[in-house]
Order: sequence, then structure tokens, then C-alpha cells
Amino acid sequence: MLHPVRCFHFLISCCLFQRFPPPSAPPANMFGTVPGYEGMAAAAGGGGYLPPPMPLQPVAPPQPSPEPEDWSIPSLSEDDARDAFKDYASSHCCYNKGPASDGVITKMEPYDTYRYRLETYTESRSTEWATKPHEGEPADFYTQTAPRPWEVPATAPNLFTNHTEEIRVPYTSSVKDCNSCHSTGTMPCDECHGDGSKVCWVCNGSGKRGEESCTQCDASGKERCDKCDSRGTKECETCKGKRQLLTYIQLKVEWTNNVEDHVVRQDSGLEADDLRSVTGKELFQNNQYLLYPLLGFPNPAISEASEKMVREHQSKYAQNARILQQRQTVELIPITKVKYKWKSDSHKYYVYGNERTVDCDKYPATCCCVIQ
Ligand SMILES: *[C@@H]1O[C@H](CO)[C@@H](O)[C@H](O)[C@H]1NC(C)=O
Ligand SMILES: *[C@@H]1O[C@H](CO)[C@@H](O)[C@H](O)[C@H]1NC(C)=O
Ligand SMILES: [Zn+2]
Ligand SMILES: [Zn+2]
Ligand SMILES: [Zn+2]
Repeated sequence: MLHPVRCFHFLISCCLFQRFPPPSAPPANMFGTVPGYEGMAAAAGGGGYLPPPMPLQPVAPPQPSPEPEDWSIPSLSEDDARDAFKDYASSHCCYNKGPASDGVITKMEPYDTYRYRLETYTESRSTEWATKPHEGEPADFYTQTAPRPWEVPATAPNLFTNHTEEIRVPYTSSVKDCNSCHSTGTMPCDECHGDGSKVCWVCNGSGKRGEESCTQCDASGKERCDKCDSRGTKECETCKGKRQLLTYIQLKVEWTNNVEDHVVRQDSGLEADDLRSVTGKELFQNNQYLLYPLLGFPNPAISEASEKMVREHQSKYAQNARILQQRQTVELIPITKVKYKWKSDSHKYYVYGNERTVDCDKYPATCCCVIQ
């Protein structure tokens, strides 16, 4: 059986030559039309995002649902809950330690829940005309046919990591004179307007102070310009002193990991957003080119979320990008709601995640804040 990724590359090379934007007016200030880049509008500064060369089809066969092995997580002990609460109280400078160390735990309720995470790793490509100081690069415009945007080789970073690369497309470079400095490589100094000297600040250019001659400027009335070292000029910012510019098509390649989570609803009172920062026990993970949804998971809400999200990601991200890989993960996140008594009043807090993060919206004793 063909490996799906290899099969995909094979198809790309066959389809490349038909799937680029239709020809349109070439950029006004350019020298013609580069095959494969015809849609680039000079006014807009570039061709924008380019659709990948072929539509994608999920190729993965259905896979057996994971076997529940050891999917339980031990419940939190009272000691651990109290320790987590004490750490929490001592990390807030204005929290009195009393409630955390003297509070009496009356009830501990588990609300462990599942989180499904889908990651879709994509590569997208866009082009624009770019200019840089000419530093000896060959003017290779049209010496050969330029590779089309998706033919330019670019090495992907590690899977599931964001990265951007800008590549000068071969055979699109030309050299032109720098207009900003009329190819001199220099511009007049802002400070002295090209004179190389300024009016003496002591005598205002007269060379005298009353009857005496000015000692600051030795009676010259002038002072050297520090900004340009008295040269009167500075380096041209456009060409960085190189006098010429290289104009070329720049290809921007962006690798993006698009992450989406679904947390199964639970009734503890803790919000799904609160769980974003914590990790849970990983129950299942797989990755491949295009995922097949995780069907038959013991918790049906996970299977539903997987089916919906896999379908949405595959249609959404294949529009303007090429999907390189997908990964799905199911975690069981421990949540414990702890009720306790302190000074005859009842209060509660939550301990959740592998990190034993504590959430407590109303801590009963703070020294510098008023409790309403
Ligand atoms: C990668 O980029 C995506 C989209 O911009 C963003 O949502 C995600 O947080 C980024 N990942 C990292 C690790 O920065
Ligand atoms: C120099 O000119 C400034 C303002 O133009 C003035 O305030 C100052 O008094 C002048 N100094 C001398 C020495 O003439
Ligand atoms: Zn100057
Ligand atoms: Zn002077
Ligand atoms: Zn210049």
C-alpha cells in the first residue's frame, strides 16, 4: 500500500501546472510576467495567499477505538488538597494563612473530565515583490523559468511547531539604481543639511561674544556636526549605501500549528477556560497525515467532538494551505471540589490538573483587601 504522504507528493507533481491563478495584467513597474506568478498585483504589493496545488481527500482507514486500559486516576487525598491550598495561599502576599492551614475539610467531590485536542499542522505560501540593497546577488531574472510557488523547496521544521521562512524565488531577481539617492549611496545629513558644520551655539555664528572673539568656535562661527562626523552626508537608508537595489519575488512560507480543544462539560462550577493552563493524564494520542475521527470512544461527547472538529479542520485548513499532519489527543483532567469550614463558615476551592492548580474565587481572609 502506498504511504499517504508519498502518494500526496506524487499527485502534486502531476497537478502543479494547471492550478495557478489565471494571467492578469503584469505589475506596471515590472518587466513582464513570471509564469506561475501572473496574479500578483503590484499595487497590492503581492499575490497574497496561494491555494495549494490540489484538493485533499482523507485517506486514513477507520481505526479501532482505543482500549480503556488504566484510565482511572487516583482521587486526591485530603493531605494533598490541603497542601495545594496552602501553597496557593502563600503565593498571594495578602492572603492570611489561617483558612488554608486551619480550615477543616468537610467534603471532597471528584469532577474529572475529558479534553479532546485536535492539532492541524499546515503550510501556507504567499508571494510579494520585495526589494533589498544589492549586495552582489546575480540578476538572474528570466535566465531560466522560475519555479512555481509550490515547487520552491522549503524544509519544514519539526512537526507541530510554528515557523516562518522568507525565500527569494530563483530567476526573479533584477538590479536597478536606487532612486532615493540617485545611485550615490548617500543622502544629506539631517542635522547639518549637508554642510558638515553647524552654527556655533555660543556665538550664533558671529564668531564674537561682545568685543571678544568666541572661544567655543575659535571665532569661526561654526561647529563640527557630530551626527555625520562633518562629512555632510549619511548612508542612504534605502540601499544601505550600495547604490543599487535588487528587486525579486519573495516567497513567504508559514508553518502553523492550529490547535483546538474541546472539554467535556462538568458540573463542578469550574469553567472550561480555567482548564486551559493545566495538563491531564494522556489517555490516547495518534497522528497522521489526515486523521480519521476517534469513533467509539467510551465517552460519546469525545467521539462527537472528534468527528465534528476533524471534518471542520480538514475543510477549513485545506482552503488556503496544505495540511501536513494532524494529531489528536485525549486527556483526563482531574478536578476535585473541596468544601471546608473555617471559623464556622463553609467555603470551597478547586484543585485541578496534574499541576494541582487551585482556584478559589473568594478567599476568606485577606489582609489588604476588603471582602464583600
Ligand atoms: C502557532 O500559531 C497559531 C496560529 O497563529 C497560534 O494559535 C498558536 O498559539 C501558535 N503556537 C505557538 C506554540 O505559539
Ligand atoms: C543666539 O540666538 C538665540 C535665538 O535665536 C538668542 O536667544 C541668543 O541670545 C543668541 N545668542 C547670542 C550670543 O547672540
Ligand atoms: Zn551633519
Ligand atoms: Zn562661536
Ligand atoms: Zn540609495
